[in-house]
Amino acid sequence: MEPYARHVLVCTGAFCSPERRGRSLYALLPTLLEREGLLFGPTRVKRGETPCLGVCTGGPIVVVYPEGIWYGEVTPALLERIVREHLRDGRVIEEAVIHRL
Ligand code: FES
Repeated sequence: MEPYARHVLVCTGAFCSPERRGRSLYALLPTLLEREGLLFGPTRVKRGETPCLGVCTGGPIVVVYPEGIWYGEVTPALLERIVREHLRDGRVIEEAVIHRL
């Protein structure tokens, strides 16, 4: 298997986001990754969804590894920034970080 540069986990649970907005974020992610050229090749990003990350408030929560950066209250616009600025350019969006490993 070819390596991934990063792994993105989206919480699709109902505790951190009662409207479960993480589900639409997760559905949007492939389009955003494709647009930035992050689906194939050495910079490709593995995506995954999880029912809970243990935060359970202020969601949807999106986590980026290997940096261990946790973003809160992620909107579609913030997800676009995460893909473009963090995943493509390697620049953490400090004002949206809620936790670091
Ligand atoms: S339901 Fe999203 S962190 Fe628990």
